[in-house]
Amino acid sequence: MPRLKLAVLASGRGSNLQAILDGAKAGKVNAEVVVVLSDKQGASVLKRAAGENIPALWIDPKSFLEKKDYEAELLKQVKEYRADYIILAGYMRILSKFFIRNAGIPILNIHPSLLPSFQGLDAQKQAVDYGVRFSGCTVHFVDEGVDTGPIILQAVVPVYPEDTVEALSLRILEQEHEVYPRAIQLLSEGRVICRGRKVILSD
Ligand code: GRF
Repeated sequence: MPRLKLAVLASGRGSNLQAILDGAKAGKVNAEVVVVLSDKQGASVLKRAAGENIPALWIDPKSFLEKKDYEAELLKQVKEYRADYIILAGYMRILSKFFIRNAGIPILNIHPSLLPSFQGLDAQKQAVDYGVRFSGCTVHFVDEGVDTGPIILQAVVPVYPEDTVEALSLRILEQEHEVYPRAIQLLSEGRVICRGRKVILSD
């Protein structure tokens, strides 16, 4: 199986990027990150990528007249690096329909809740405030909605009554670092089959 080429879009810390890179180094993820694109100057994720000799580009959304122009530049980079998948890893902007329709390759996201619960921002705070007993994370394909696309993998963690948002976030993050690399590996093995909104994982 050829290695999947991943274009990672991220805005911050980059721990999910790191988990994917570590999985690849350990031979558990048959993929390579070909470019990391960030909307945030100096984001840790860019430093992590550069440290691994991966092209790491800050593309400033403010330097474009319209969101569409900014997104067209992102897509230009994704195509230039011949990515097979776009991996959102803490990318804090909502991609427009224009981007999604013109990407030409699947887009994956990881969200820190058990979707469809707690879509959007501050999912961990939403879970703590709601008083749910369980939360977790979801790897899903991106469609034109926000956090609504077909679900590939989920992982569950307990939520305790005394939990702070930070404590829950950390518990969820540990699972994120397991499921995102695993989902990418399943894709690389051709085991992810999309049937409408249902995703079948073949043996
Ligand atoms: C993660 O919690 C992810 O679920 C959310 O943004 C955060 C990114 O963390 N989409 P990191 O930058 O990968 O460390």
